Amino acid sequence: MRIALSTGGGDAPGLNAVIRAVVLSARGRGWDVLGSKRGYAGLLGDDDVVPLTSESVRGIMAHGGTILRTTNRGSPFNYPVRSPDGSWTEIDRSDEIIENARNLGIDALISIGGDGSLAIAQRLVEKGMRIVGVPKTIDNDVSGTVMTFGFDTAVNTAIEAIDKLHTTAESHDRVMVLEVMGRDAGFIALYAGVAGTADVILVPEIPWNMDKVCEKIRARDAAGRRFSIVVVAEGVTMPDGEVGVIGESLPGQARRVGGVADVIAREIQVRTGKETRSLVLGHLQRGGSPTGYDRLLATRFGGAAVEAVANKKWGHMVALQSPHLVTIPIVDVLDSPKRVDATHDVVRTARAVGISFGD
Ligand code: F6P
Repeated sequence: MRIALSTGGGDAPGLNAVIRAVVLSARGRGWDVLGSKRGYAGLLGDDDVVPLTSESVRGIMAHGGTILRTTNRGSPFNYPVRSPDGSWTEIDRSDEIIENARNLGIDALISIGGDGSLAIAQRLVEKGMRIVGVPKTIDNDVSGTVMTFGFDTAVNTAIEAIDKLHTTAESHDRVMVLEVMGRDAGFIALYAGVAGTADVILVPEIPWNMDKVCEKIRARDAAGRRFSIVVVAEGVTMPDGEVGVIGESLPGQARRVGGVADVIAREIQVRTGKETRSLVLGHLQRGGSPTGYDRLLATRFGGAAVEAVANKKWGHMVALQSPHLVTIPIVDVLDSPKRVDATHDVVRTARAVGISFGD
């Protein structure tokens, strides 16, 4: 048996732990493992395909990033190509992948990625490729799995930032607006906001308005708490209907958002008269050593992915349905992305302990 492994989309702490677990479990079965560099670029001949041995994965458990590297603009169905005049076109190179995989003697592929990569995997499965998926995203917005690895590390990074903002905000009687990642889902803002004891949490799933945000800040002031911490997900919908602040994307890349914290901070300062500052935590949340939780989950995902290949679970992804690891059809997952449920106990408890969602 010869399997290939690829990491696609944005990186997440724990990717190397998955790679390590896949390689060691597969080698333990006597299988060969190949790594496709930079997502599918390796399999397309635009980057390397390298043999992965026990030696290649030695000591990588604690490292962020991915030893295979990754890209968020490498869909073989819409592969971006730059012409000599600087313009971009997108071409379908999916047949090339299938042919190259066949020529390399690859029996199956383990594709580690978020919803975008899983959607690509599903389309390749429909074209006959034998693929098992491993869900990955710091945003935790893949349905069918209670948790994705990388989320816990990102939440802890955000909590550490909130803790630090508290002391400086309190010293200066300031409002601090912290923007965390979450293009479509507010899980990082919600979990970090609750655990970091934010005063206001704004997420894409709960409509909010500036009056309510400022009301909370004024009420704290009146009670002698002269500082406030607002945690906002980057993809939050503004009261006027705009989604976050849209940045410039390269061809083949998903919509980029970022910078909404500054817009919100300015408005809070104008309305309340309180000095208000903003901070975008950004890609710090994607880096660093994975937490113990993420190392364990990623290792479990890697081990389960190899079992799924052995059981010929093509078109399935591994998932945590506590306390068990299961495999579920990728197509089911793509139908319904996971979002913060406004009636969930974490939201209810947050409200009960006095956190405002600006609604
Ligand atoms: O999808 C995960 C994510 O972390 C989003 O929260 C964020 O908008 C996006 O990646 C940013 O990715 P990149 O910087 O690679 O464009």
